[in-house]
Amino acid sequence: MADADYRLALRVMTMPRDTNHSGTVFGGVIMSMIDQAAYVQARSHGLHRWVTVAMEKIEFHAPVFTGELVTLRTRTVRSGRTSVTVHVVVDAERVATGDVARVTEATVTMVSVDASRRPIPFDSPVTLTDLTGSERG
Ligand SMILES: CC(C)(COP(=O)(O)OP(=O)(O)OC[C@H]1O[C@@H](n2cnc3c(N)ncnc32)[C@H](O)[C@@H]1OP(=O)(O)O)[C@@H](O)C(=O)NCCC(=O)NCCS
Repeated sequence: MADADYRLALRVMTMPRDTNHSGTVFGGVIMSMIDQAAYVQARSHGLHRWVTVAMEKIEFHAPVFTGELVTLRTRTVRSGRTSVTVHVVVDAERVATGDVARVTEATVTMVSVDASRRPIPFDSPVTLTDLTGSERG
């Protein structure tokens, strides 16, 4: 798939708090970014609560270092009834050179759910209008 088929989901600057003792960013930090990017893509299919049901085939191709600008792009690769599967690619802009490296990719399946956390068709009418109090955010 060409990069042009992917849409921008997130751009994040890595910070020292994201790194391990050898100065590279924790895999779990990248996975959190991937989870958020997949949510952003899923949301474009329907304004509902979306939960992650599966994250598969995550590949860490190259390390990410502190101070790098990390860009996450997404593409929906499967649409079901209540779920969509999103491919996420992650690039890092190297601080010293400005070169961009493909550092990680993953495939994530997200499920649209109602306020009771039951799966609902993602093409059903918007359900985020009933967010209140502790449900918000
Ligand atoms: C997501 C969840 C609501 C699905 O419940 P469920 O009883 O499995 O629901 P269903 O069997 O009806 O499946 C719903 C959809 O998820 C898909 N799905 C279920 N398990 C899956 C898996 N392991 N991998 C990929 N897709 C899966 C089904 O194929 C179905 O998709 P479709 O409607 O597009 O065909 C439930 O598993 C859950 O609440 N999980 C925890 C979610 C969570 O807290 N995530 C982390 C924080 S966001």
